[in-house]
Amino acid sequence: MMPDAEPDNSENLSLELLRQGDAAFQGGDYKESLANLLEAFVLNHTDIDIQAKFIEVLSHTSGLKLPKPVTDILAEAVIANGHNAQALAPVLASRFEDDPDTDRAILFLEETPPGTIVEVPADIDFTALLGDQLFLLVCTKATSVSPNVERLLCALRKHFLSEWLADASSQSYFIDNYPDALAATACQAFNSEYIYAFSVDEQNKFSGLQASIAEDIRGVHPFELAILGTYRSLWETLKDSNPDDLQYLADQSPRWPGWLRLIWKIQFLAPFQEALIKQRLAQLTPIKDAHTEATAQQYEDFPYPRWQSTKASSTAITLEQLIAARFPYTMRPELANGPIDILVAGCGTGQQVAQLASNLEYKNVLAVDLSQNSLAYANRKAEEKGLKNVHFGQADILALSGWDASFDLIVCTGVLHHMADPSKGLASLLSVSKENTVFFLALYSERGRAQVVAARKLIAEHKIPDTLEGMRKFRAMVRELPVEHAAKNIAFSREFYSASGLHDFAFNAHETRYTPLELKALLDQHNLQLIGFDLPRGEYTARYKANYPDDPNMISLDHWEKFEKEVPDVFEDMLQFWCMKKVQN
Ligand SMILES: C[S@@+](CC[C@H](N)C(=O)[O-])C[C@H]1O[C@@H](n2cnc3c(N)ncnc32)[C@H](O)[C@@H]1O
Repeated sequence: MMPDAEPDNSENLSLELLRQGDAAFQGGDYKESLANLLEAFVLNHTDIDIQAKFIEVLSHTSGLKLPKPVTDILAEAVIANGHNAQALAPVLASRFEDDPDTDRAILFLEETPPGTIVEVPADIDFTALLGDQLFLLVCTKATSVSPNVERLLCALRKHFLSEWLADASSQSYFIDNYPDALAATACQAFNSEYIYAFSVDEQNKFSGLQASIAEDIRGVHPFELAILGTYRSLWETLKDSNPDDLQYLADQSPRWPGWLRLIWKIQFLAPFQEALIKQRLAQLTPIKDAHTEATAQQYEDFPYPRWQSTKASSTAITLEQLIAARFPYTMRPELANGPIDILVAGCGTGQQVAQLASNLEYKNVLAVDLSQNSLAYANRKAEEKGLKNVHFGQADILALSGWDASFDLIVCTGVLHHMADPSKGLASLLSVSKENTVFFLALYSERGRAQVVAARKLIAEHKIPDTLEGMRKFRAMVRELPVEHAAKNIAFSREFYSASGLHDFAFNAHETRYTPLELKALLDQHNLQLIGFDLPRGEYTARYKANYPDDPNMISLDHWEKFEKEVPDVFEDMLQFWCMKKVQN
């Protein structure tokens, strides 16, 4: 794997490999791109641009098995430079798949009565498994997407709980030896929003633990808090406690070990900050109607998505530069140049807001949503990142018309399709646009969501309730489905691994889905023209161009209709596209 290069040549070689890796990525050849970037990373792993590109390409692939020395330094780089840890979740998943050592360890945990382990067989190495940098990173800073990581964490938390509740004289194998794994289990439980199932016995045990903590908050032991955090968030457990007791805990926390401070930060301090932000959020419009009220409630209950970090470039570019680079054939003299005003409509938890504000030159960003919980999460993250001139407020997109404001870029992804009439939502967005406004929108794809349609049918047929418990039941059901069942693939999606993800994906109350031809009708109705699609996977670009040489810009929705019939997952579950008003002749 290591190229045979002179040390003083290795930097140049690594930069050349970065260039080739980037070019292959742009051309849709992810395999070639990863091969180049892996080589560049091995030669020059401290280069931030190489790290960033490698991680970006990894985030577009379904999981590469990387050697442990590489993932160790990759994990360090992610922590040191704030790269997106989520991109490494599939890499961890592939490491946990078909690995006899991991399988043996998980089986041993599952088959040994919880709380009874005093020593482990010689062929099981928990120190290697639970101390692995990649495992700890993904569990603490991302949402794992691995069935085996889930099995491991579910089995581990049972052992932690039982060890804690056993009498004081007995040994505590995991508690004594693996506090970092306890923190990883608690953080992952929180990141996945407690979607992992547990038994009635565990429920009785952790409810007892919870009651005893509530009775004597000042006497709580650090392990008790951490173990409870693997089943229920510390915020949910403590938020209504006596403020003096909470202050006492907060005063103690700097003296706690690092692994507990990490859980406290994620599970208590962050939600506490969000509760404070919620109190000062501006309410910009009323909520229009009962359908919208119901949508708002669903995203209050399950703010989506729970994200940790996002891709930021080192230099921000203008909107004109972005369009010129991506869609040069669309350039118009009047396209906004220099810093712009951006509206993020239905911003959810603000991942896109952070991305845009880090990558584009802007004057102001206004980010609105129905859900105060989502906005509070978004606002906290924007404050953490120190983003300037970014404003959040509760607003119903349907109530925007009549606003005395207009924006150069309007971003509204994954939102309009939840409305009773998406066309009305689009009209409302148009009412706050200029002649040259660029829109970035995303709507559910009819063909791309075939598996979700099958899942929704299953949910309806089995009357699975729209609750966390219902979603746990649904996951167990999907895992039992035969491979040929139309809903089976949902188990391999990232959304399957968090409550808000699964809710948004399959349990949402209402959705409208589009084919490319239906999208064409919607755009025509509003006098909009397609600028181009963001394709989730680059490899289809060459195939489209070969199929339709008469459409080099890839903007014929008639062709896309035919292409999507041929390749139903070309857009995955959403048509993500850029558009603007048609030029008036
Ligand atoms: C699936 S989330 C998408 C969040 C974000 N745009 C993204 O792509 O990550 C949908 C969001 O749209 C918001 N939403 C739905 N209808 C809305 C409306 N009428 N006005 C404002 N926000 C709305 C929901 O509250 C929710 O946060």
